Amino acid sequence: MNITMIGTGYVGLVTGTCFAEFGHFVTCVDTNTEKIAALQKGVIPIYEPGLDVLVQKNTTEGRLQFTNDMAQAVPEAEAVFIAVGTPSSRRGDGYADLSYIFAAAREIAGHLRGYTVVIDKSTVPVGTARQVDRIIREVNPQADFDVASNPEFLREGAAINDFMRPDRVVIGVASTKAEQVLREIYNPLYLRDTPIVSTTIETAELTKYAANAFLAVKISFINEIACVCESVNANVIDLAKAIGMDGRIGSKFLHPGPGYGGSCFPKDTLALMRIVQEHGENVRVVEAAVEVNAAQKARMVKKIREMLGGSETGKTIAVLGLTFKPETDDMRDAPSATILPALMEKGARIRAHDPKGMHEAREYLPKGIEYTENAYQAAEGADCLVLMTEWNQYRALDLEQLKQKLNDPVFIDLRNVYDPETMRAAGFRYTGVGRK
Ligand code: NAD
Ligand code: UGA
Repeated sequence: MNITMIGTGYVGLVTGTCFAEFGHFVTCVDTNTEKIAALQKGVIPIYEPGLDVLVQKNTTEGRLQFTNDMAQAVPEAEAVFIAVGTPSSRRGDGYADLSYIFAAAREIAGHLRGYTVVIDKSTVPVGTARQVDRIIREVNPQADFDVASNPEFLREGAAINDFMRPDRVVIGVASTKAEQVLREIYNPLYLRDTPIVSTTIETAELTKYAANAFLAVKISFINEIACVCESVNANVIDLAKAIGMDGRIGSKFLHPGPGYGGSCFPKDTLALMRIVQEHGENVRVVEAAVEVNAAQKARMVKKIREMLGGSETGKTIAVLGLTFKPETDDMRDAPSATILPALMEKGARIRAHDPKGMHEAREYLPKGIEYTENAYQAAEGADCLVLMTEWNQYRALDLEQLKQKLNDPVFIDLRNVYDPETMRAAGFRYTGVGRK
């Protein structure tokens, strides 16, 4: 099938490439000329493990191409996916900014030829697909098309595997014709026993927000329990393991940490709160999760301060990991972008390392941070070390070397990577999250 993907970001580029891997013919479109020029030369503008190999394979085999020109990409397509960004609005009120979606819809409209399904893959408030429908009809009253919703559940850093082996595919449709097109696109996954949940467009749109909000609630829940564990001298790792063994609870997303971040949970929880408010309803559990997440980041600042003897002023802090999670270069809403400025405001100096995120970090973090080539250089002369993001390369650090480099052997493990006893035996003053 001929597919066009509008937007070649973390979602569009991965899903477009994976559709090509299924055997479809995919054209990826983006308004960003630099991105497209890079992709045309085989340069991948983001870090996502395995993506470079898959892009190269599918471009070489003639199933994947990139362009800035919708006129070249849309007319031949039987399905046009919209995967542009839906960030929080700049007004700061939590509403999703739909301007990129609507601009894309307007441009697609003029180029539609023959029956086409226009599919929202971006995470969008309930009613957006209907608005896209209205825009296309206004711009091109002759167009023969249906709109549909096909939310995406992949995670950054594991995006290809998540897309190729999803727990389910959700398709929101209002016509059998559109459903048939979507089922054909996802047939390779269906053949591998992936459940396809076919529903109304509104249900599909809300399902995406509900899924992200539930995961955010789960993380905030364990972060709050971690705090209780510290007060009552309990161990959150054992506790999470024990409750997670209950199939009704499940073991995933019960890792305490510095608070959830990333391009989606923070913005999507806020957007859900606004959608719900507009309909005169409440999602108090989600509101609480958002509050707890902000408090968790503030708690991490306090934890670091306490480990520095009550004040960070004039102290040097080594930070390992800056991105919101490992295996991505994405810095959007990373906890480091809240925690580090708070410490710097009080006069702390930061020496930081991240395997893939330092280029992006320079844009998201305050000036004055010293970026180092490796973990040991970051530790050089520092008064404590904070493990912020659990990259694999920080899981087996040379503790002796680290201790020698640090001014004071203080290790603050915000991801509970290390064993407290081992760290104490190695001569560190150690603290994690949720373990006294
Ligand atoms: P992104 O910012 O990485 O990419 C968006 C791309 O769209 C950019 O390259 C931008 O230049 C392009 N774009 C904007 N307007 C355009 C237009 N009119 N025509 C063509 N291209 C245009 O965003 P992302 O992280 O890929 O997220 C996209 C959507 O998918 C969001 O709604 C997000 O919530 C959702 N989502 C993201 C993830 C994730 O892991 N990042 C996972 C699931 C769902
Ligand atoms: C998340 C969802 O997991 C995806 O299903 C969804 O498609 C995506 O958002 C989206 O809509 O964009 P992502 O943000 O890439 O994916 O990464 P996650 O692995 O979910 O991690 C999000 C944040 O939660 C990270 O900061 C991570 O460190 C934190 N987290 C995650 C925890 O603190 N504890 C956990 O147990 C799990």
